Amino acid sequence: MNVAGRPTRTLWLSADGGAVEIIDQTRLPHAFATVRLTSLDDAAHAIRAMLVRGAPLIGATAAWGLWLALRADATDAGLAHAHATLLATRPTAVNLRWALDRVRAEVQLLPVPARADAARQLAVTICNEDVALNRGIAAAGLPLLQAIAARKPPGARVNVLTHCNAGWLATVDIGTATAPIYAAHDAGIPVHVWVDETRPRNQGASLTAWELLNHSVPHTVIADNAGGHLMQHGQVDIVIVGTDRTTATGDVCNKIGTYLKALAAHDNGVPFYVAAPSPSIDWTLRDGLREIPIEERAAREVTHLTGRLGDGTVATIALLPEGSPAANPAFDVTPARLVTGLITERGICSATATGLRGLFPEF
Ligand code: MRU
Repeated sequence: MNVAGRPTRTLWLSADGGAVEIIDQTRLPHAFATVRLTSLDDAAHAIRAMLVRGAPLIGATAAWGLWLALRADATDAGLAHAHATLLATRPTAVNLRWALDRVRAEVQLLPVPARADAARQLAVTICNEDVALNRGIAAAGLPLLQAIAARKPPGARVNVLTHCNAGWLATVDIGTATAPIYAAHDAGIPVHVWVDETRPRNQGASLTAWELLNHSVPHTVIADNAGGHLMQHGQVDIVIVGTDRTTATGDVCNKIGTYLKALAAHDNGVPFYVAAPSPSIDWTLRDGLREIPIEERAAREVTHLTGRLGDGTVATIALLPEGSPAANPAFDVTPARLVTGLITERGICSATATGLRGLFPEF
């Protein structure tokens, strides 16, 4: 997508070929800064500290992290250490394991001197595939928004609600939940996005709003608690969210608060769709509530808030009375029964084992 009119991905090989460069998402929306990753530790830190985040981008960064690691030590022990180090960075998004296992499976068959180059090539492939998957999701999801527009008076806006950031910043490019939105906007459909701020880390307010603004997509940021009210008053035509891990039976794990939006959508007859590229589907799991590991993050993300002061400086402030404890589960699971459909790169299916198997018979 464009940043200040310039096509930009979320990570890329540096011009000198010696490093991976990323956008430091912890600085957005107040500063656009890039960071060079040159080692396994750099890549692990970038994922753990959420300089990069979002399930597909976590996977892509991990693939590049294996390349960085294998440049220093491509032995079996080096590969095992790098795989384990990167896998331990964040527990919920299955794309991380998917990317690491894929690179390891290929490079471990090769002689040690050939491994780093092969990992680099595979990281490039994974990034390009991610963009192609998102284009597939755009093509599959666009008709949903076209159908809503067709039911409305000409020019009436199509209101999409989204949670967290499942936009291009969460992927290599285009995004998952945002892919149909960008496609609709580019096709001239008057799409408008309700952006959940997504406390505690505010991925909606800080990231989704920033990228929609950059692409001139009309949007409005709302407090997380406003979605149900808007649905009751007919202000939401469709909800589209991303996923960090979807089970083979269609249970969807996504950013904390997604479940509440699904409940409200269900109660109000608002369709609730999940943009789910196949690398975010965990074919080994059948019960999302019991089997998906939910990341518990630092209480400080709840107790403090970072933002821009009137003089332009960025500062962190405390919100709570000193001494009040806080809890911070980072994801929740929306049961399949609340999901209208999964938008995958191969089309839309029901959030059921049968629906998923119909599109992905090879799993
Ligand atoms: O904690 P984050 O910011 O990595 O969580 C991201 C989300 O929950 C996204 O909605 C999800 O990864 C889907 S991204 C295409």
